[in-house]
Amino acid sequence: MFYPEEKLEEIKDRLDVVDLIGSYVKLKKSGSGYVGLCPFHSEKTPSFSVSPGRQSFHCFGCGKGGDIFWFVKEYENISYPEAIRQLAERAGVTLPELNYSRKAKEREKKRERLFAANKEAARYFYYLLRAPAGKEGMAYLERRGLTQDTIHRFGLGFAASGRDNLVKYLKEKGFTDAEIRDAALAKYDEKWGLHDHFWNRVMFPIQDVSGRVIGFGGRVMGEGEPKYLNSQESPVFDKSRNLYGLNFARASRKKRFILCEGYMDVISQHQAGFTEAVASLGTAFTPGQAALLRKYDSDIYLAYDSDGAGTKAAIRAGEILREAGMSGKIISLKPYKDPDEFVRNLGAEEYEKRILDAENLFLFEVRSLYETIDRRDPAARTRFASETAAKLLRFEDAIERDNYLSSVASTYGIDPGALKGKVAELAGREQLRAIRAPVVTSQERAREKAKKEGTSEKLLLRRFFEEPESLDIAVKYLSPEDFTVPPTGELAALIFALGKDKLSLNNIVGELDEETGEYAAGLFSTPAEEYEWDADRKKVLFEMIRAVKQHSLEKHSEDLDIGRVVEIRNVIAGLEKEIAAIE
Ligand code: UTP
Ligand code: MN
Repeated sequence: MFYPEEKLEEIKDRLDVVDLIGSYVKLKKSGSGYVGLCPFHSEKTPSFSVSPGRQSFHCFGCGKGGDIFWFVKEYENISYPEAIRQLAERAGVTLPELNYSRKAKEREKKRERLFAANKEAARYFYYLLRAPAGKEGMAYLERRGLTQDTIHRFGLGFAASGRDNLVKYLKEKGFTDAEIRDAALAKYDEKWGLHDHFWNRVMFPIQDVSGRVIGFGGRVMGEGEPKYLNSQESPVFDKSRNLYGLNFARASRKKRFILCEGYMDVISQHQAGFTEAVASLGTAFTPGQAALLRKYDSDIYLAYDSDGAGTKAAIRAGEILREAGMSGKIISLKPYKDPDEFVRNLGAEEYEKRILDAENLFLFEVRSLYETIDRRDPAARTRFASETAAKLLRFEDAIERDNYLSSVASTYGIDPGALKGKVAELAGREQLRAIRAPVVTSQERAREKAKKEGTSEKLLLRRFFEEPESLDIAVKYLSPEDFTVPPTGELAALIFALGKDKLSLNNIVGELDEETGEYAAGLFSTPAEEYEWDADRKKVLFEMIRAVKQHSLEKHSEDLDIGRVVEIRNVIAGLEKEIAAIE
């Protein structure tokens, strides 16, 4: 590889850096350059700058920077050569055939194969849904009010019962075991061999923004756990950077998105004419998804479940939008549970009204808080006022803050003067804190710390998945109580109880509440680092065990009697000997 330098220069000449980046990011003139909100990390004040002189961009916040090719590569999440080709086309520059490096070529080829395998799987499921074997699935979808047209449009399908129907089919189509497994369409274990990931489920193909199938969600018909089983992440399936339905919604021309939680919610809304609906992929809404939506510069409406969990998730999604410099409104679905039920019961016209009446997320958040407190208790009311004041701090614009302040003060009968006083007091405190710690906020720091704190615990749990034999070693030294960082303790207890033979994500996630389940699914589908040498791998395992034990000792030392502390110290010393012996 590479493309001739003069061709790249020609493209850069034809595509001005400001125009190009300006088509993705809102830019404002500032001095000799332009500034905007960085698309690569969350921020509220612009630290992303574009220099026409150097034809480059740089972010002072996250340190990313480079030329237009680099920008498009990062932004679109594609390879560098892909970015060059895309921009060449845009600039009308013809590129010569390219000599890829062998490795890059292989990687690209492999991704192409995984896309192809997913597409072929979608075809297979699609076919089965219409075959006698899929009768039950079709009846289920029809019972849920989907028309043939909708079922076709979303490419819905069916996975029949059976150990390896899909595996056989894909092999006939020329895919290798490794490809089938890497596309997360099948799993391997000693007992079952290579077996289908999905069976007896209605299948929802998940497409990326350009319509390529990248994974699946499969729903049980009726009751059963888990209700939805999703593909694990793969080289083509990144759950945090894709949204269900976006391939259609981006073309809806409504200048708005309706963000919801479920596949069925998206499909029902599209069927009712709301083709601007999208959903996250079996996990909570992520900053990567916010960045994905931000480039369309559309309004965001949240249609989350109307129960407690949905409210919490909506508030969290609102935070993520805010951190990405966006805002959103929330659609009330009451008395129905989710947009699917709402639309099916009250129809499109009523839904459109609810969208028009959508509530500002800040006011929604305050109201949700108010609904949880005991209003007769003066202490609770005081706490409510303080928490509301803290939330008001988010508004940097003084007029905007004042407007919200008067609004909540009058709605909830709080004295506006007192509320203002509280806000000023909190703002003062925050300023002091900012002076002491100029860059990182305390919240960010706490998050960082929590992240670091659980690292060895998480790595070790993930290791059990990658290499079940490591569990046999770990149980000699550790008990679930040694995993002190939530929710790793809960996960360890489950994993230890299952043992290495029954260890599977399925067995685990079914036992957990939604949030922990999501955490586990995320954890166990992230590939661990590769270690080249077997000796290293073993050493790393023992080091992780030691770190967890050490950590546990630190956490528990105050509650333990001295005999027990000595015992644990001895275990740690034993581990250290093991580690030394490996070298
Ligand atoms: P819900 O439980 O709210 O289901 O999950 P739903 O969308 O209303 O589903 P129906 O109407 O009963 O069919 C919302 C989303 O959360 C993810 C899926 O993406 C689902 O669409 N989810 C839910 C899972 O990934 N696994 C589960 O077990 C449950
Ligand atoms: Mn539903």
